[in-house]
This record gives sequence, structure tokens and C-alpha cells, in this order.
Amino acid sequence: MCGIVGIVGKENATDILVQGLEKLEYRGYDSAGIFVTGTDKKDYLVKSLGRIADLQAQLSPEVQGTVGIGHTRWATHGKPSERNAHPHTSGNDQFILVHNGVIENFEEIKQDFLRGEQLTGETDTEIAVHLIAYFSKETANTKEAFKKALSVIKGSYAFALIDKNEPETIYVAKNKSPLLIGLGEDFNVICSDAMAMLTQTNHFVEINDGEMVTVKADKIDIEDEKGNVVYRESYEAQLDLSDIEKGTYPYYMLKEIDDQPTVMRRIIQEYTNQTGETMIDPNVIKEITASDRIYIVACGTSYNAGWIGKTMIESLAGIPVEVHLSSEFGYNMPLLSEKPFFIFLSQSGETADSRQVLVQINELGLPSLTLTNVPGSTLSREAKYTLLLHAGPEIAVASTKAYTAQIAVLAVLAKAIGDKKNRSASLAFDIAHELSVIASVMETIIDEKMEISQLVEEYLAVTRNAFYIGRGVDYYVSMEASLKLKEISYIQAEGFAAGELKHGTIALIEEGTPVFGVITDKKTAAHTRGNLKEVESRGAHNFVISIAALSKETDQIILPDVHPLLTALVSIVPTQLIAYFATLQRGYDVDKPRNLAKSVTVE
Ligand code: M6R
Repeated sequence: MCGIVGIVGKENATDILVQGLEKLEYRGYDSAGIFVTGTDKKDYLVKSLGRIADLQAQLSPEVQGTVGIGHTRWATHGKPSERNAHPHTSGNDQFILVHNGVIENFEEIKQDFLRGEQLTGETDTEIAVHLIAYFSKETANTKEAFKKALSVIKGSYAFALIDKNEPETIYVAKNKSPLLIGLGEDFNVICSDAMAMLTQTNHFVEINDGEMVTVKADKIDIEDEKGNVVYRESYEAQLDLSDIEKGTYPYYMLKEIDDQPTVMRRIIQEYTNQTGETMIDPNVIKEITASDRIYIVACGTSYNAGWIGKTMIESLAGIPVEVHLSSEFGYNMPLLSEKPFFIFLSQSGETADSRQVLVQINELGLPSLTLTNVPGSTLSREAKYTLLLHAGPEIAVASTKAYTAQIAVLAVLAKAIGDKKNRSASLAFDIAHELSVIASVMETIIDEKMEISQLVEEYLAVTRNAFYIGRGVDYYVSMEASLKLKEISYIQAEGFAAGELKHGTIALIEEGTPVFGVITDKKTAAHTRGNLKEVESRGAHNFVISIAALSKETDQIILPDVHPLLTALVSIVPTQLIAYFATLQRGYDVDKPRNLAKSVTVE
């Protein structure tokens, strides 16, 4: 949520900042701004409501400098507007600040330190920059003033600060929100995500919570909370520029849907050997095998993947699994079993709701594993173990390939635990082979996307609402399918347990209401078909997605058969395409839906 970039020491700072912000637009896109300056002490502050393209349109040729910071916003405090856009300036016009996160005690700070101060916007960030100016009256040293402000501020933040009197320096600090330093030759950069600065460098240094970093063109100085100097090695980002480009695709979402067969094959390569046996860190397997209950904790699409994980782990490994929403679990923790093991699912590895649970789990000294797509992300660093998804960068706000990658990695994990426990259900099953079948079936479905587009036109072009229904694993897929549909097409969509409709929700079915039935499970297929008949009798326009073995000729989409535990990996694909085409046909931005951001770093 919100993206930050900064640079010290390069002639074309403006262009680099704007290009960086374009790469970070997935983190928020309701307003943006940059501040640039240089040793000639001329400075420029340009802000704009809307996208980075809107900001760019406002940049006149003289907006140039060698030092600068930029920000793309996802509003928390104060509506999207030019006034509330970052960077924010102190009352004395000396300090310029960008911020990602939420300052929880901004009201108290206002009361205690800033009474009578003229504030121009409604953001918590503006309070922070005024507070720094307040403390700068006590000490002429900017770093000390910044540190004093940080000692008062409570909440999450990644801050980048420029003092106009020291235009060759950016001061940086973070707590719970991501921020990296990128190292160049005679210049250095900062960014919320390495992706933003890959054109400049692929050597990055992590910053830990509580540290203060002084970034200059020729050096960076890191200090811990006590003021001790910290030396930290840089790492090379394993990212390629081509990974983060759309190429010939009109939208990232379509590219990412199409990437899925490749991702399945990569997972087979990373987690199984030549003979199809699983290859997962034996310490993880040992620790999970010794546990008496697994708690999967996640949000959004990752939470939906968790439910599929539960069915696979319980079937193959025989360990009970609970699936929880991070935002609920942290503050309403259930009674835990005697030997719990925690699995955090997070594409970004930065989701604040999940992180607050992990912090508590670590305080309790309990073991944890993060499944994430982003190496070095916060949840990966803070959990005891990590398994990477190897899905490649996922940029569209609507998650697609991360969902199927999570399910595939969980399948390998479930299989590995089952094998370790010598479970017969697991031993009879060659995961590498089954996942390669999945990859081919995904390709078949993707190849038929234009037929899906036509069906979508018939079902979803004008409707106000829609339902996905199914039982068991088909219900869990329905939850994800409806999330996909609603978050980008704005059709009010509900994923429902098919048998539960008649207990109330069937009242919403009207003449023409689209109802999508997902049928891949032999034991529940007949009942789901019965429920589809019930809604049809009340006017529903039914659309059935079924697996070949359970299909009827009249079904709209018939999927080739796959291993019964892995059906979610294929039944989800047409629903991703349905959401994509519905959004296109209704004229909305597929990759950047309103009100959302890709990485949710506030609670
Ligand atoms: O990065 P995470 O997997 O932790 O993100 C969790 C959710 O914010 C995310 O899945 C969200 O629901 C997506 N927009 C769904 O498409």
C-alpha cells in the first residue's frame, strides 16, 4: 500500500522517480507526487490526483534535479486529492516527507505538539513532517529531529525525508512497512519494492524496523535504534526486467493467467526430483509431522487457497487443519492445540494483517512456515521457514497465478508429509506427474479463452449480481471465483455453499440472475446439480463448470479430468477468465480496480 521511491546522485532524477513510480503503481494509484532538488538548491514539488500518467502530464521540462523522492498513494487518512497527495511539506517549508503506513497516534501528536499549527490536508503524514520540524527547533541536527519524531510516532511506516538545507541526503526509517536501499555507482536509490529500481541496479540492502539510514550518493549509513553503526551485505535481486513487463499483453492479469502452466512446471522442477519424489526442507517436514494441528492464516485470495490446502493436507497427511482470516485471528485467537504449527500464505509476504499474527506467534515461540512469492519479504524473514511460490512477479491487483502456485506448493507439501508418515493415500500418488497433467489442462482451458469471452457476454454484460455455488472443494473455489469477479468487474458476486442457499440466500435469485455451479467432486455432484435446479426454477440463468467425468452435455464448460485432489487448480482457471472478460466488457481497468492496491500493508 503506497509506493515510495527516491534517488540521490543522478542527473535525471525526475525520469527515474517517475519510471519507478510506474512500477509501484500496483501498490496504490489514487494520487502521486514527486519532489526533486539538487546542489543548485532549486527545488520542485509536483503532485497530482489520479495515476502516474496524470502526474507525468503535469511535469514541465524544468522539473529537474539530482536528488528526489516520489510517492504513489492508496488513501488511508483523507480522501484522494492533490492536497492529500505526498510528498508533504513542513510548515516552515524546510522538510519534505513521503510515507507508507498508518500513524495510529496522529490525533494525540496534533494535540500534544502541534496545537495552532496550520495543516493543509487530512493525512497522518502531514502530522509527521510537522513533528519533525517541531523537533528541529530543539536540535539543528535533522537526523536527531527525525529520531525524536520517530520516538513519539506509533504505527507502521516507511519514511523518506529530505531537508532542503541538505539537498544531497535522504533520511530513511521504517517500522512494519517495506523499504529497500538500492546501490549504484555514484548514486543510491530507495524503493518499496526492488522492481521499481531494477533499471538502475539489482543490488539491494534490506532495512530492519527501528533502523535509521542516511542515504547519500557515495555511501549509505545504517544505525540501529541505539545509534550503533550497522554493516549489512547487499544481495542481488533475482528479478529480470522482462519478468515485470506486460510484453504484448493488454493487461498483466491476462499474462498472469497465461503464465500458470509455466508456474506449475517450475514448481515441479523446484520441489520434486527426477523420479518425482518431493524435495522440501526435511526440517519443515519433521516439524509439521510432529505437530497435532496446522493453522493456516491468510487474507483474501491466499485465504481461499488455504481452504484447498486444508483438504489436501487432511487427505494426504492426516493432520487436522484450521483455516483462519489473519485480521480475525490476531485479535480473537482460538484455543490452540498442544503442538500447533502455523502456515502463513501470502503472495506479497508483506500483508500487515498476517504479519501481526506472525509477530504474536513468534512471541509465543511457536513454529511457522510462510509460503510467499517474494523472497526476502517480511513474512518470509520473520517465519521460521519459507517455501517460495516461484510464480514470478504478480502485478495485477487480482491474484491469479499466486493462487494456483499456493495450491500446487501446498499439494507438494501435503504429499511430502504424507510420505514421511507412510500414509497410503499419499504413497499412491505421483505429484510431479499429476501437476504436469494440470499444466497441460490449464493450457487447454487458456486456449479456449475466446469461447469463454462469448459466454461471459451472454451472462454478465449487464447483470447487477451473480453467484458461484459448489460443495466442499467446489465451494472453496466458488469463494475465490466470486472474489475475482467482484473485485475487478464490480458485479456483486457471492461464493456460496450450494446446500446453504435454500436457508435464506435463495431469496435473492430473480429472473436472469447468473448462477455459476462448480462441479468437480463425485460425492457432491448430484446434490449441487439439485441445487442448480432449485435456482433455475426461480429464474436463475445457470452456467455449469464441470469435470468431464461428472459432466452433462448441456454444461457450459467441461474440463478434462485431473487428480481428484487437484481439481481446484483447473476449475479456477475459467473463473479467472470469466472475471477478466466481464471486466473488459463492462469497460473497467482490469489491472487496477478502484479502491484496491496489490500489497495491503495496513491493518
Ligand atoms: O499478498 P497476500 O497474498 O497476503 O494478499 C492477500 C490479499 O490482499 C489478496 O489476495 C487480495 O485479496 C487480492 N486482491 C485478491 O485478488
